[in-house]
Amino acid sequence: MSGPQWVPTIDDSKVRDGAYVPVYPKGVGVLLVRTDGELFAIANKCGHMACPLEGGKLEGDVITCPCHDWRFNVRSGQFIDAPELSLDTFATRVEDGKVFVELKEA
Ligand code: FES
Repeated sequence: MSGPQWVPTIDDSKVRDGAYVPVYPKGVGVLLVRTDGELFAIANKCGHMACPLEGGKLEGDVITCPCHDWRFNVRSGQFIDAPELSLDTFATRVEDGKVFVELKEA
């Protein structure tokens, strides 16, 4: 067992502004999202019944789950209608043009 680990994913240029890309660092489903030029990473698994969020609509900071329309803030992971519920979020950093995602457990 080891602590947090930075895992490389895709080229930063592949995440366009106002769009998202699913990635799977070490098999973990993560959605990379760019909004207003800023990059965020949230769990690609809805907090309702675990549908993948890819395929959902992204409007500004909010992504809507394609299954039953739950909406989440991509910056905080919070469920819009009940902010006490939230998705896992991940720190990101870009190095040599590549997006790294921090996983809590290696
Ligand atoms: S699984 Fe996402 S809203 Fe139901």
